[in-house]
Amino acid sequence: MRIGGETTRSIRPGATRASFSVLDQTLLPWRVAWVDIATPEAAAVAIRTMQVRGAPLIGATAAFGLALALRDDGSDRGLAAAAAMLAATRPTAINLAWALARVSRAAAALPLRERAARAWDEAVAIADEDAAACAAIGRHGTPLLAAIAARKGRVNVLTHCNAGWLATVDWGTATAPIYAAHDAGIPVHVWVDETRPRNQGAALTAFELGAHGVPHTVVADNAGGHLMQNGMVDIVLVGSDRVARNGDVANKIGTYLKALAADDNGVPFWVALPHSTIDWQVADGMRDIPIEERSADEVTHVSGAAADGSPMRVRVAAPGSAAANPAFDVTPARLVTGLITERGRCAASEAGLRGLYPEAG
Ligand code: MRU
Repeated sequence: MRIGGETTRSIRPGATRASFSVLDQTLLPWRVAWVDIATPEAAAVAIRTMQVRGAPLIGATAAFGLALALRDDGSDRGLAAAAAMLAATRPTAINLAWALARVSRAAAALPLRERAARAWDEAVAIADEDAAACAAIGRHGTPLLAAIAARKGRVNVLTHCNAGWLATVDWGTATAPIYAAHDAGIPVHVWVDETRPRNQGAALTAFELGAHGVPHTVVADNAGGHLMQNGMVDIVLVGSDRVARNGDVANKIGTYLKALAADDNGVPFWVALPHSTIDWQVADGMRDIPIEERSADEVTHVSGAAADGSPMRVRVAAPGSAAANPAFDVTPARLVTGLITERGRCAASEAGLRGLYPEAG
């Protein structure tokens, strides 16, 4: 990822293994500030308050948080308690539970005194593998964009929320093919859904596309259908927080509406994800993926910056009105053209997923 002209990652392990740092995404794009996290409790706060967000980055943050916990208490009880505390931070992205289970398994197999070091190594591996997986997603997704550009001279992508490098360790999921195509000289333009209520599109995706030099235009969430009806979108690319075994896709609230509009207008709708986002235990995503309900304040208020750049928050809903804030929705597999993973592309179905991951239980 590029930030201030520098190439870095969204999570940085400390050299002494006593802390790690993350970009505070609640301050972006107004301020670039790294937060040092030295305790499992601070990791949990960072995830809950969305200083870090995005399914793969939540998983990596929790993994480092659990490794920090084992420095103080490496017992089975300490491990289980810290893992449970971190798991309770956000319910929808399965990468969180996946990363905690992976670190727990690696540590629990060892004597107490070796656990903290082993957990840290596992967290580093999770972060490194996520960056590699996202780069591979870029390679597997680029041909989709290249084919459209070859036909039309340029490709217009629509994306929702932030499934970019800020949501992962590097490259992003939905954005990886965009960056790879752009870097390969393919003319790409991105329609960026603002993504109310927290505006991850307007604030974060636009910020990172801009930092990478990718042409983009922010649109109100409600504009997507109109753009598709008028031939202004060639492909929809989104990420996911959890993909069920049957190919149903949980992603940021509003994704389902984009899938409906894409289906009605014959626009391909692709979902990009690493293997850590697949929940093999959930057979039916429409029925069994838990949907996070967040604070009504996120709907009644918006955050932004004043003319002098200072962060501010204003109320947009009529005083006294109730507000509801389901943070994710589930797009049924039948509306998904296909999945882009680090192992290649497949149909959004159990057969498609098993074709790429035959070893999955
Ligand atoms: O609530 P958030 O900002 O954590 O939601 C993030 C998303 O929905 C992303 O699109 C998803 O995690 C895919 S990220 C690679």
